[in-house]
Amino acid sequence: MSIPPLCERPAYEALARHYSKMERRHLRELFAEDATRGERFCAEAAGIYLDYSKNRITEETLSLLMQLARESELERRRDMMFAGERINVSENRSVLHVALRMPKGTSLMVDGIDVMAEVHEVLDRMADFAIKIRSGAWTGHTGKPIRNIVNIGIGGSDLGPVMAYEALRHYTDRNLTFRFVSNVDSTDFVEATRDLAAEETLFIVSSKTFGTLETLTNATSARDWVIGQLGDYAVAKHFVAVSTNADRVAEFGIDTANMFGFWDWVGGRYSMDSAIGLSTMVALGLEGFGDLLAGFHAMDEHFRTAPPEKNLPMLMGLLAVWYVNFFGAQSIGVMPYDQYLKRFPAYLQQLTMESNGKHVTVDGAVVDYQTGPVYWGEPGTNGQHSFYQLIHQGTALIPIDLIGFGKSLNPLRDHHDILSSNVFAQAQALAFGKTEQEVRAEGTPDAVVPHRVMQGNRPTNVLLAEKLTPHALGALVALYEHSVFTQGTIWGIDSFDQWGVELGKQLALAIIPELKSATEPELGHDSSTNALIRHYRALKARP
Ligand code: F6P
Repeated sequence: MSIPPLCERPAYEALARHYSKMERRHLRELFAEDATRGERFCAEAAGIYLDYSKNRITEETLSLLMQLARESELERRRDMMFAGERINVSENRSVLHVALRMPKGTSLMVDGIDVMAEVHEVLDRMADFAIKIRSGAWTGHTGKPIRNIVNIGIGGSDLGPVMAYEALRHYTDRNLTFRFVSNVDSTDFVEATRDLAAEETLFIVSSKTFGTLETLTNATSARDWVIGQLGDYAVAKHFVAVSTNADRVAEFGIDTANMFGFWDWVGGRYSMDSAIGLSTMVALGLEGFGDLLAGFHAMDEHFRTAPPEKNLPMLMGLLAVWYVNFFGAQSIGVMPYDQYLKRFPAYLQQLTMESNGKHVTVDGAVVDYQTGPVYWGEPGTNGQHSFYQLIHQGTALIPIDLIGFGKSLNPLRDHHDILSSNVFAQAQALAFGKTEQEVRAEGTPDAVVPHRVMQGNRPTNVLLAEKLTPHALGALVALYEHSVFTQGTIWGIDSFDQWGVELGKQLALAIIPELKSATEPELGHDSSTNALIRHYRALKARP
């Protein structure tokens, strides 16, 4: 029996009725009514504690959300993903990033192939390579050990590696320098390499398709840079590739013996723990990378086996649906209170928005409800001194996730307690605000009172882990991956394709020759694009 459209599912209709009561309820009342709320609305898994008590929910909300999950067959679809079924319908592919972190000795048969054997074969080759680089056994063209690793990639072939490197820098080999080049803007490449010597530099060209224009352009400039300093024969020792496309890797001139593969069932934005994580493994070493995978796997197992009402990714995904579809929230903020996680929001933007930015269901029907919200964020406490004002007193409802840790990796005096106090204080201020009476009681002049009133009732999740380790990062990323899956399942969309990015790429390909042309090209675009191209050419031609 097929699942009815979202708005016709009984739980959705019940939630709509329930919302009309809940929109008027304030978190102040909900906490006043139940002294144990803060201890009840919480769950823990894989070392991550989630306090979701400061959400605009009651037991009834939760039970209706759970009913919606059941009516949307969330658990069945999750099991289909874990079994390797082709749930990415528009690309007719399995979705098996969870296999990338399954331990050695397990087996998973997909289309008659044991994918686990392949996964561990690549992991072993990555490990050999990482050991060679870290020990200095891999030498460059002139015989010097490699000291600099530059990952060239974009989207999922960049954001995961750079986020993981920054997040886990504390655990990295500080004798090695890591850089990440993604933007086709040549400034990115030039700045990343300006202080490096080619003879000590190795490029990891990371591209699932090995057809991405930005990456191939940067890789070609990298090859010129190496050849310019070391000569034609240096490429072999200074380039390795990570891709699913061996032919294109060979065509580019990288020996496929130096290629690390992965599979079409790994989406780009779900690939940081595949061979795309090669730079991460070199940076962390085998043990650290193993811990990262173990963290992912621990959260996968939790998602796979925990009952929905205790299941962190399901809870977070369903809460997102609650705000997006009933409160009309258009964005969700993620604020990590850890400087090492400064690229985490950027990473999440691709994960969440490339996955759930869809306007048709898996069957191709145009949806009549909102889907993926904008995810964004910035590390705390910096964001507090910038845009939190709008979250506290603006007119939009923006649910936010605050991520904190019990321990600092760089303890210095009382910094960490000061930092962490802000996690709790922000969640408190957002939830409870400040009433008019409270503002007046402080002796505030009448005219200023309205400006100082804080409505509160602004929802947060607080995520806490002991400290930022590879394991914790893996668990955190998997938590968001599966929350995205949960949301996509409720919305009935394909969270694993990304057709929307193609048109712009095609149009750019038509425009490139028009920008490069030595003679004035004949332009057949709309009048705005034509005028912009002419203007650009004129600017470019100025002496
Ligand atoms: O354009 C979007 C995208 O296809 C992403 O999904 C992907 O992560 C990125 O480009 C890079 O693709 P590739 O790894 O094939 O170079």
